[in-house]
Amino acid sequence: MQTEARFWAIVPAAGAGTRMGSDIPKQYLTLGDRTVVEHTLDTLLSCERLAGVILVLSPADQRWTGIQQRYTQQALETVNGGAERCDSVLNGLKHLAARAGDDDWVLVHDAARPCVRPEDIEHLMNTLQGSGEGGLLGVPVADTMKRVDDELNISDTVDREGLWHAYTPQMFRIGALRAALQQAVDNGHPVTDEANAMELAGYRPRMVQGARDNIKITLPSDLPLAAFYLQSRQSS
Ligand code: CTP
Ligand code: MG
Repeated sequence: MQTEARFWAIVPAAGAGTRMGSDIPKQYLTLGDRTVVEHTLDTLLSCERLAGVILVLSPADQRWTGIQQRYTQQALETVNGGAERCDSVLNGLKHLAARAGDDDWVLVHDAARPCVRPEDIEHLMNTLQGSGEGGLLGVPVADTMKRVDDELNISDTVDREGLWHAYTPQMFRIGALRAALQQAVDNGHPVTDEANAMELAGYRPRMVQGARDNIKITLPSDLPLAAFYLQSRQSS
């Protein structure tokens, strides 16, 4: 008898935050009353359809132990990450293999995207669960796009039609994603998101429109912006 596919989440949080340039890795910076990673986890853990959440940490992480007691009652496990984001996600997927089926769904969501809305996660699951190939949250590009050369001279204007920003969560079948990421790593292909690994493996992931404010904290100016987004939601 075939059981219904379950949903799991993997949260890569093993990065160093080089572009942020802060002493503390960006996932541990404070946003209002909690750290960035706590906001992210709290939203995912509020989604009742998720059977469990795997948090991927750097082997050198010194900060999670100070936070983890908040989560002892929850369906949350931790695993060590790797050198690149794709290595970290792959470790999470290998860990999941012990408790999840290859046809179960996994939602990979950056720890550094604390503004994700529970309703967008639900929307992603509802939209893609009937499909074979999975997909991701994203938003259409709004600005006029230019390609420039090394001296910042414009070589051409890129047609905006059909261009989207790729956000997370990115949702795929566990077995297919594990194979696609393993293949990308084995081929030395430095994929920065799951969809790219799936594309290289011949899939056509589907874009699902989400809220624009699901930003990734990457540069210092992103932190006050994320704080503003979260605060304005609390007071509305
Ligand atoms: N990540 C990870 N393992 C890595 C690299 C990144 O788990 N080896 C995680 C980050 O912690 C982050 C997410 O992947 O939550 C998105 O990556 P990115 O924004 O690039 O974060 P960093 O790699 O930490 O930042 P930077 O590229 O500026 O160093
Ligand atoms: Mg990075």
